[in-house]
Amino acid sequence: MTQRILLVIGGGIAAYKCLDLIRRARERGMSVRVVMTKAATEFVTPLSVGALSNERVFTDLFDLDDEREIGHIRLSRSSDIVVVAPATADLLARMAGGHANDLATAVLMATDKPVLVAPAMNPRMWTHPATRRNVALLQADGIRFVGPNSGEMAERGEAGPGRMAEPLEILDAIGAVLSRGATSAASLAAVPQLHVGPLSGRHVLVTSGPTHEPIDPVRYIANRSSGKQGHAIAAAAARFGARVTLVSGPVAVADPYGCTVIHVETAAKMLEAVKAALPADIGVFAAAVADWRVANAGVEKIKKTATQRTPSLELVENPDILRTIATNRAQRPSLVIGFAAETEDVVEHAKKKRKSKGADWVVANDVSPETNVMGGERNTVHLVTAKGVETWPEMLKTDVAEALVMRAAEHLSRNEAAAE
Ligand code: CTP
Repeated sequence: MTQRILLVIGGGIAAYKCLDLIRRARERGMSVRVVMTKAATEFVTPLSVGALSNERVFTDLFDLDDEREIGHIRLSRSSDIVVVAPATADLLARMAGGHANDLATAVLMATDKPVLVAPAMNPRMWTHPATRRNVALLQADGIRFVGPNSGEMAERGEAGPGRMAEPLEILDAIGAVLSRGATSAASLAAVPQLHVGPLSGRHVLVTSGPTHEPIDPVRYIANRSSGKQGHAIAAAAARFGARVTLVSGPVAVADPYGCTVIHVETAAKMLEAVKAALPADIGVFAAAVADWRVANAGVEKIKKTATQRTPSLELVENPDILRTIATNRAQRPSLVIGFAAETEDVVEHAKKKRKSKGADWVVANDVSPETNVMGGERNTVHLVTAKGVETWPEMLKTDVAEALVMRAAEHLSRNEAAAE
């Protein structure tokens, strides 16, 4: 059945991202009907929104034609979910206060469907006590939030939390809310945010991305890991209902919806964060941790001088995070999954790694440059377990993630059933 989204576009610079959101939602077979606040029409035109959504765009409560044709009550209920993006500080305040003085807020007051909000505002406005209060009130009312993300703002020199979630993250969040099966805001409020599904009650710990090992304050050693596979695993585990802690190295991909994300730079900090996040039921070690760090990293920037020779770097081995956790008897997750990034003899190396590192499973992938795995969207993996090796067909990294998390959930419940 077509999933029907009612999108309320608020008046913020991020409104332009809604054009992409509408396009991508329609690509996925969803229908999108749009209500725009008056301020939103200053940022994007109803004409372009209408062209992309292929539906009439609703802009004003007092447009009698619209009221006669459909009315705000019907409009608010003839969808499966109401999405507010971008939700400005003002729109959040009006929602929290129960205002209904324009079509957007009237629709939000009248709806009996789940509401998902993607805030976007300046970081100071997002962290302002008034916004904090309004967000807490809306959350208590069962309203779901996606984002905001941290990063550079449209205003020059401004950075921090406040960037609207990316369209793909919003779509993920829409999928997560709709897959809960709850049809009304009231029934959604009755269940905790996420944490419903085959992994509910479980804690999943995931490492993802590269690590950066400093050479001096401005230079570092890194690798080509994008974090896409690890982040997709964290997102899938959250969709399956787990409480997820994602320890991420520096990546360009956004924080996945519904996960607690701890950002680190170095292998040492990643290990510290992983230890602090234990205990966990499942540990997935997808990060491409740098094997070495610079022992003689400079406190000051290393300078070129006419007289000095080219500096040499002394490398020391980094802690092996996967091995440390897999061999730690006291707090070992029930299922430890490692990754093996190889450029030759992929399966053989992975089998050895599984044993030497103490992992239960190893997901082996060929990262030779011609495979385009590092940074790409697709992956061909072999799942190496104590029972043998399975070669999976080439898939999107998001599908690899989903399949792996599904297998992990089944494994845990089978093991527990056997132990009873
Ligand atoms: N890993 C880790 N800590 C390290 C190195 C690797 O936790 N310091 C984990 C990775 O997250 C992955 C697995 O170990 O799950 C294997 O990583 P990989 O880079 O393939 O193997 P290495 O141990 O680095 O071995 P090599 O570079 O010799 O192939």
